Parts: sequence; C-alpha cells; structure tokens
Amino acid sequence: MEGGKPLMQVLKDRKSSRAFSTKKLPERVLGNLLWAAFGINRPDNGHRTAPSAVNWQEIDIYAATADGLYLYEAKGHTLQPVFAGDIRAETGKQPFVKDAPVELIYVADYSRMGKGAEEEKNVYSAADTGFISENVYLFCASEGLATVVRGAVDKAALAKTMKLRPDQKVILAQTVGYPKE
Ligand SMILES: Cc1cc2nc3c(=O)[nH]c(=O)nc-3n(C[C@H](O)[C@H](O)[C@H](O)COP(=O)(O)O)c2cc1C
Repeated sequence: MEGGKPLMQVLKDRKSSRAFSTKKLPERVLGNLLWAAFGINRPDNGHRTAPSAVNWQEIDIYAATADGLYLYEAKGHTLQPVFAGDIRAETGKQPFVKDAPVELIYVADYSRMGKGAEEEKNVYSAADTGFISENVYLFCASEGLATVVRGAVDKAALAKTMKLRPDQKVILAQTVGYPKE
C-alpha cells in the first residue's frame, strides 16, 4: 500500500499496449497488481479498492499463467489454484495473449447479485468490471507494466474451458506483462 507514482503522472501515462515480453511477473508484483485491482482496502468492513453495485462484490478475478489457472481470494489475499495447464491462448482472439505472462479474466457471479432482472445484472457487472480494469491500468502505468483490456474473447468457449457455472459470466479479459523490448 506504499510507493507508486503520483496520480497525475500515472494518468498521463495510462495507455493500452499490445506488445508484451514473455518475462514472468514476480509474485510480489502480481500480488500488488491484484490488490490494486480489487483487494480489500478497509479490513474493518471488507470493502475493496473498486466500487461495486450494492457492494455485491460479484466480480472474481481469475489469472491464467503458463502454470495454470488461479482465482484471486481477496479475503486472504491469496491466489487459489483452480487447475494446472496453460489456457492463455483461449483467453482472447489476439495473438499476443498466448505469450504475455498474465491474462486476467473478469467473471461476474450473478448468484451474488440478488433477484433483479438479467439486464440489470448485465449493466452492473459491466460497470463494476470497468472500475477494476481501470485500477489495473493505473497500477501498470505506475509500475512500468504493459496492459490492455479486451472484449475480443470467445466467452462461451472460455467459460467452458474454465468450467464455470451457468450463473458465472465472463465479462472482459485483460493482458498484463512487461513491455516488449
Ligand atoms: C470494453 C473495452 C473492450 C476492449 N476490447 C479490446 C480488445 O478486445 N482488444 C484490444 O486490443 N483492445 C481492446 N480495448 C482497448 C481499446 O481499444 C483502447 O482502450 C482504445 O483504443 C483507446 O486506447 P488507450 O487505452 O491507449 O487510450 C478495449 C477497451 C474497452 C474499454
């Protein structure tokens, strides 16, 4: 929760990049990235670095790496293994996704969103993902990392690969890595 560049400089540097080095992210950097994305910033009430409609906190962040698929558990600030195996190529339609070290996948769990209409859940889960994605953009700008948020994802195929339940919806993905030299 310390360090980082001043906010105005970070905003000046925020951008989408599509050329990534294959160099892995150190665990510490990945941990800080996930905390910035949607970690718990107020342990007294469990609220997070990004807002969410009705504080549903319905967005789960999955991380696909060369080693496997992981789920970020904000409560313990841990990465839980989901399964081993490299699914990065299936997280998007662009060629760089298979080579970048980390593919974040934002998944909304509609079962946490009350009994409202599906259309309302679609809007809120998209908005809530946007805040998380922007946190990732700002962290990357601060740390000199490259990133791009991506909607060009075969969501049905990815949901199948990830073995998601029908009420878990893939919203967007986001590539993170070091810039290609
Ligand atoms: C909801 C959303 C979906 C996007 N999907 C993709 C995508 O699938 N592939 C991609 O390369 N960029 C994608 N982008 C990134 C935009 O192309 C990028 O933000 C835009 O060109 C402006 O560039 P900038 O982020 O550098 O300002 C997406 C951005 C948003 C907000």
